[in-house]
Amino acid sequence: MLTKNNNNMKSTFYKLLIFAICCFSSSNLFAQKFEELAQTPPMGWNSWNTFQTNINEQMLRDMVDAYVSSGMRDAGYTYFVLDDGWMAMQRDSNGSLVADPKKFPSGMKAFADYVHSKGLKFGIYNCAGTHTCAGYPGTHGYEYQDARLYASWGVDYLKYDWCNTDSINARDAYLTMSRAIRAAGRPMIFSLCEWGNHGPWLWAKNVGQLWRTTTDIHAGFAQDLNNGNWTSFGVLHILDLQDHIRQYAGPGHWNDPDMLEVGNGMTYAEDKAHFSLWCMLAAPLISGNDLRKMSPQTISVLTNKEVISVNQDSLGMECFKYYSFDGIEIFVKALKDNSLAVCFLNRSSRQQNINFDWKEHLITDTVSKLDIDFNKNTYVLRDLWAKKNIGTTNKPLKQTIGSHEVLMLKLSKVN
Ligand code: GLA
Repeated sequence: MLTKNNNNMKSTFYKLLIFAICCFSSSNLFAQKFEELAQTPPMGWNSWNTFQTNINEQMLRDMVDAYVSSGMRDAGYTYFVLDDGWMAMQRDSNGSLVADPKKFPSGMKAFADYVHSKGLKFGIYNCAGTHTCAGYPGTHGYEYQDARLYASWGVDYLKYDWCNTDSINARDAYLTMSRAIRAAGRPMIFSLCEWGNHGPWLWAKNVGQLWRTTTDIHAGFAQDLNNGNWTSFGVLHILDLQDHIRQYAGPGHWNDPDMLEVGNGMTYAEDKAHFSLWCMLAAPLISGNDLRKMSPQTISVLTNKEVISVNQDSLGMECFKYYSFDGIEIFVKALKDNSLAVCFLNRSSRQQNINFDWKEHLITDTVSKLDIDFNKNTYVLRDLWAKKNIGTTNKPLKQTIGSHEVLMLKLSKVN
């Protein structure tokens, strides 16, 4: 009897030991990323949306200068990210990536130094596949070597794409690169760009700081763009794909509905709506326009600090769609200090008059734990584009909203 008890205890002990080892190793396996980065959605600029692979050192140095002189840096944008096309078509004899010597005659370290000298952080692109989407050498099989190279250049941000990955497992590939970055020892934001194909919001929280949720955006508001064998999505289409995954985002781990197209050809109203919605979504704000040639309107959209502060709110909550009627949608985002952002979007092709009686609405949300009754509490309404207070929630809101326009409000509780 005694022996049987002993055996039972032994076997329970070993089971517990194995369980503890499994827990320890799996938490180690996943806890790779630099936890302290991107506590609010990253803000920056990326070369892809305007230039694709047509980049070169001089043009990019001018872009860095414009980043600073236009006020983008002062508005909170920090990262300067080179997308696809920065490298030579072949690795060198040691298997190392090399910057295309024609595009970057001074080399990548010198360019990174220039970016840093302006008080910005430097980002770069590669791909989990054998080749990048534009056909340059991919990182598959070179993860640790590439991460060490990036660290030696002073890279602060890596966007990691998903082309040419036929037989590769997505979770493994992104985890391997995350571990390689950790091993290289330099804190880098890790931006997963597998287009939401493998539900990264379910597994990437400890792997990287942001993950794309859809295919590529294009500079269109209500329509998609057929590119032959694939389609890029307009702003509204991408917006519609975000609501069901909002609970997976928060400080240090963000859903990424792709980079901004502000200043790339939509109307002023559409640019404001796109920017407002990305701020409501707590999306990374990565501008993708030519910073050297911004109109005053484009600058005013990208640098509106009151709208940006909704994006950068420390609670890190994504908005939810509260209400929808006749082409008008209302999005609500919980902010710190019991404040709220409320964005009315007119998706329709005609101007609409809204008459919204706050007191007829109870706003509740399980994710952000909102429970608001405007009969019990009053809020001051601030129009974040007009930059003025427009009354309180004690009176119905009466406004005209143009087609594809937003009314973006911040509500502050009156104590
Ligand atoms: C994919 C990505 C884009 C861009 C290109 C580069 O399409 O989704 O954001 O990085 O590749 O080739």
